[in-house]
Amino acid sequence: MSAIKVLFVTSEVAGLAKAGGLGEVSAGLPQALSQRGVDIRILMPAYQEVIAKLPAIDWSGELPGRAAIPAGRLGQALLPDGTILYLIDAPSLFNRRGTPYCSPEGADWQDNHLRFARLSLAAADIAGGRAGLDWLPDIVHANDWPGGLTPAYMRWDGIQVPTVLTIHNIAYQGNFAAGHRHLLGIPDAAFDVNGVEFHGQVSFLKAGGFYASHVTTVSPTYASEITTEPNGAGLHGLMESRAACGQLTGIVNGIDESWDPGTDPHLPHHFDPDDLNGKQANADVVRIGLCLRPSQGPLFGIVSRLVHQKGLDLVAEAANDIVGNGGQIAILGLGDPEVEHMLSRTSRRHRDDIGVLIGFNEPMARRIVAGSDFTLMPSRFEPCGLTQMQAQRYGALPIAHATGGLADTIDDGTTGFLFSTLTPEGLMAACHRAFETYHDAGHLEAMRRAAMARSFGWAGAAAEYERLYRRLLGRPSAATHPPESARDAEPDTLNIMEAAA
Ligand code: ADP
Ligand code: GLC
Repeated sequence: MSAIKVLFVTSEVAGLAKAGGLGEVSAGLPQALSQRGVDIRILMPAYQEVIAKLPAIDWSGELPGRAAIPAGRLGQALLPDGTILYLIDAPSLFNRRGTPYCSPEGADWQDNHLRFARLSLAAADIAGGRAGLDWLPDIVHANDWPGGLTPAYMRWDGIQVPTVLTIHNIAYQGNFAAGHRHLLGIPDAAFDVNGVEFHGQVSFLKAGGFYASHVTTVSPTYASEITTEPNGAGLHGLMESRAACGQLTGIVNGIDESWDPGTDPHLPHHFDPDDLNGKQANADVVRIGLCLRPSQGPLFGIVSRLVHQKGLDLVAEAANDIVGNGGQIAILGLGDPEVEHMLSRTSRRHRDDIGVLIGFNEPMARRIVAGSDFTLMPSRFEPCGLTQMQAQRYGALPIAHATGGLADTIDDGTTGFLFSTLTPEGLMAACHRAFETYHDAGHLEAMRRAAMARSFGWAGAAAEYERLYRRLLGRPSAATHPPESARDAEPDTLNIMEAAA
């Protein structure tokens, strides 16, 4: 069977430029698909830091501009795992210090519409054979709002290659003033409810959600949640209609294999389910690092972007109760100054028991997860979430709101604690279950073992994406159509249409 050729369009790749979970997905999923024999190549912007990190880039192609989108050059490099990486460069857009989306001071770049239209247009250039490459994709797989215009440019340019849009977070939409459409080469007729228009603005995510052949999101529960008004961020109607046509699928992410408490080089003490002494030793290291007093009580960890979505105001409200019951809290995060200040104030009230580190620090993140007995994730919504999977691997039982991917990846009472009422009382009720477990050594050990035994690798997700690509291409593999008996054993649980049927 011939290899499927996929162009994976993303604004972040871990190891090169990363702001959150999308970067990790963009590193892990293509690798797992390559291992299945898919010829997958990544396209991302040539940010200054990306160019600096790559030892050799072959700048071969020139791509034309459109409207106010500048012309660009296309580079090609090899990632350490052998994956081919295409880079779209337009120095006026990408040659600057900062994150993929913001200045070093945290303000969104004012020309993000042009920056990510340039990314999407480059994808259409490659798919349309306009990039001078001797390679054409069978499928173009774009991610989140920065890749959202990809299926749109392809449709307007008459490029017949099937497209997938993966939504990692429907709350980030890339909405810009209506007048910007003239800068982006958007045809007037497409500024319509059946097109890129969203409440009088140009919306990149709406465009992708409308024009893509198929939409995926990163968990089955979130796929169903975004078809409802409270969770669809205004796009629930569109998502509902895609779901009704069988064109909305939820596929749970994996996590990187390096999340292994027996080998992680960032941990001062290694451990495994049969020897958990190292876990206690890591907890002591975390306590010393955060200036917390020595304690025999449970350590609750938080590693998170500090944004409203993550519900950490509930932790601030429950803090007295957690500390009053003998718990301590170790927090590492970066994000909105308001959330940072709220957590710092909480920590000042309990200096010996709550420590907050503001910053992005992967070694420290891994140490906190390794040392924690429990991980707090009261997210208001969570499309997938990687932290709760990392936490289970490290025996830090997650205490989480039963939403999105948290509900899909935590086995309540077995590998963690889920709560449904999103209030400080709801969170505390789950924490009280955790305290009881902590004081019952046999139960605690059984839950830790169950959590650490879960693998959360990328293989399952990669198989689902390949199955979807084949379905879109009308090239089903043997595995896509198992005999009826096998189908019972391995249902396509990820297609919410099929699940609902
Ligand atoms: P989101 O993408 O919404 O931020 P995820 O749970 O999907 O949430 O992914 C977050 C990833 O970023 C996890 O791998 C987590 O360990 C990591 N992370 C979050 N905040 C920090 C931080 N301050 N320092 C280091 N790693 C972090
Ligand atoms: C987004 C979501 C998070 C998800 C990640 C990767 O950042 O907020 O839940 O895990 O994307 O898909």
